[in-house]
Amino acid sequence: MDKDMGKSLKHIGVLTSGGDAPGMNAAIRSVVRTCTHHGIEVTGFYEGYQGVIDDNAETLDARAVAHIINRGGTMLRSARCAEFRTREGRQKAYDNLKKRGIEGLVVIGGDGSFTGASLLSDEFDIPVIGIPGTIDNDIYGTDFTIGFDTALNTVVDAVDRIRDTATSHNRLFFIEVMGRDSGFIALNAGIAVGATNILIPEESTELDEVITKLKTGRENGKTSSIVLVAEGEKMGDALFMAEETKKHLPDYDIRVSVLGHMQRGGNPTCADRVLATRLGVAAVEQLMAGHSSVMCGVRNGSVCTVSIHDAISRKPGIDRNLMHIAEIVSL
Ligand code: F6P
Repeated sequence: MDKDMGKSLKHIGVLTSGGDAPGMNAAIRSVVRTCTHHGIEVTGFYEGYQGVIDDNAETLDARAVAHIINRGGTMLRSARCAEFRTREGRQKAYDNLKKRGIEGLVVIGGDGSFTGASLLSDEFDIPVIGIPGTIDNDIYGTDFTIGFDTALNTVVDAVDRIRDTATSHNRLFFIEVMGRDSGFIALNAGIAVGATNILIPEESTELDEVITKLKTGRENGKTSSIVLVAEGEKMGDALFMAEETKKHLPDYDIRVSVLGHMQRGGNPTCADRVLATRLGVAAVEQLMAGHSSVMCGVRNGSVCTVSIHDAISRKPGIDRNLMHIAEIVSL
């Protein structure tokens, strides 16, 4: 790190944007306390970019972020801001940043939030650093996003409970999980809960295959089944699958459960707290080193950086080997 750069940085901003994710608070705390450690002032903006446009903000010191490391949601609240997608909106935001003497911005969010950050930095020459915070884990350049591990554990806990009732009643459950356009939650949780089928948008599956597998399972003595469906699955949602399956397996008692926003809440797991803390420190250090338009992530256990442009424009691939593993064990 360029020491002089580090010394010259006096004031930064931080915000959370897009869908909240457990561990965002831990990341805010880490950013603020790293700044306190280095004598840098921090302004926290409320409700994402909307707070920058409206200058809805306050100074955060070390005590302001006490007792939040364990809490889900985000103390800075979050939003998806339509006005920031316009040049005029970003101009207002930049004017407010300048007025406050803010020299760099840490944005905690997903790819939509990084697109805004990248535009702001390109148009107005203000350094921005991204921290990936989304339960979806769908950001290129990091093995894990903040919130993913917590969401997985929430899903596993919920599906375990559903399994209790599914086995008691010899039922087939179609369970829909979040993940917008990606199947990371469905695939990983699906393996962990022992799902018979895992349906994700990255992998095309025919309904016939699902039904054949369920029929074969029954013939082999399986009395209940769990099918995990990612919300972005192209074939259709869990309700559609259940209705179609019923036509082919009329004597199977079928139920549908959509887990919904419960997957976004709850206390962050240890893994998410540690990840958030590591990335918060890294983001401030990136600004101190004079860098901009990078996202801090973690790869093979180590903190890394990737250009925000790549984080936005490239998609992380699903681990095909995990699909293969799921197929082998779901008899
Ligand atoms: O990106 C996180 C996420 O929870 C997705 O998994 C889901 O598709 C979306 O946000 C839901 O968004 P909203 O909270 O706006 O309904």
